[in-house]
Amino acid sequence: MTALESSPLRRALRAWYRPRREAYPWRRAGIDPYGVLVSEVMLQQTQAARAASAFEGFLRRFPDLSSLAAASRGDVIRAWAGLGYHRRAVALHEAARTIVRVHGGMVPREPRALQRLPGVGPYTAAAVAAIAFNRPVVAMDVNVRRVTSRVVLGREPEDGNDPQIAVAAGLLLDPRGPGTWNQAMMDLGREVCRPAPRCEVCPFERFCRFRGAGRPGRVTAARTQPPFEGSNRQVRGRIVAALRVRPSAGIAGLVVATGIDLGRVEVAAAGLVRDGIVERRGRSFRLAG
Ligand code: ADE
Repeated sequence: MTALESSPLRRALRAWYRPRREAYPWRRAGIDPYGVLVSEVMLQQTQAARAASAFEGFLRRFPDLSSLAAASRGDVIRAWAGLGYHRRAVALHEAARTIVRVHGGMVPREPRALQRLPGVGPYTAAAVAAIAFNRPVVAMDVNVRRVTSRVVLGREPEDGNDPQIAVAAGLLLDPRGPGTWNQAMMDLGREVCRPAPRCEVCPFERFCRFRGAGRPGRVTAARTQPPFEGSNRQVRGRIVAALRVRPSAGIAGLVVATGIDLGRVEVAAAGLVRDGIVERRGRSFRLAG
């Protein structure tokens, strides 16, 4: 057994995580693999606190995989309210249909099969396999990468594909509870081992090489998402919101409903049509499906 696998380190994180177990609705008892898949797709680009309320509403509307697969695309986009990045809703819907068609309605258990589903990349596949099926795989998001690199290697992660970090994360992973371990690491990166770390309250403080070395290198907060205000993403969100509450609208109607000027509404609407989120019939737009 290497030092990395030593149980004091794992015990420290497990104890820190215990009160967080119930912090999010997707960790509740009774959430099945379908619920885990929904949550992980939501969490790809939405902060956990915001995804939490959308998750509850979405599962009320589509309580199981077959209800999602049987829904129209428009209804799925409507239920995606508050989350943005609607391409994920389209992909999740397609994933549900693929699971029904190819996997007999059962969410696949292996990362490789999960990764073949629409909208599911290596990170989401690993998260679902670990959380829903206890597969011993690391869900390596930016937070887990940062925590691992600091604790084990004593430095900031420089690039997104550092094999040393992947090896270290695999050694840290607690094989007795990979789902819990991954979620604890995610929470730790989000709450404590942030770009500007809060080492005083970190359960890894005693074990951390980064802390031991006096936090070398850059400790400035890095921006992870482009600004929302004034972005094409914001215009897209407003158009979808407008089309959720009316059957259709022309471009002028969208300008009035969104309060955004014509040129930008045209560009954003064309992108939504391209992505299969909105349909254009003649001069009018409506939610797809
Ligand atoms: N980010 C992605 N997946 C997560 C999860 N299951 N819990 C908390 N944050 C997450």
